[in-house]
Amino acid sequence: MNVTGIDHIGIAVENLEEASAFYRDALGLESAGTEEVPSQKVKVAMFRVGESKIELLEPTSPDSPIAIFLQKKGQGIHHIAYRVTDASGAVSELVEKEIRMIDTEPREGAGGSRIAFIHPGASGRVLTELCQH
Ligand code: CO
Repeated sequence: MNVTGIDHIGIAVENLEEASAFYRDALGLESAGTEEVPSQKVKVAMFRVGESKIELLEPTSPDSPIAIFLQKKGQGIHHIAYRVTDASGAVSELVEKEIRMIDTEPREGAGGSRIAFIHPGASGRVLTELCQH
């Protein structure tokens, strides 16, 4: 598998607007857009940090995985996403290595990316995403 960088760090927030103010106004980061991702029941705001991004995630429904995370743990780092050149190939390779996956096939993520999550049980409780653009 070809991991070429940290694509983004996902952060669960209660309120996208309030959280964005810190990254935009205090850190002066450039916005890379806001969008809703219905498949994950979230609204997403992206901020550029060099080659990487910060991905703020606000739930749009009480049964969103982000809503459940916020209930259990409160606001904070939710996942780390590695950039890969071939998400399907990477997932196949991990399945072959018997790494426990949440997604056994890539699905659509923010910005038209292809994403797949590795089960935190396989990665020392760090929710890990693979992301292909
Ligand atoms: Co992500």
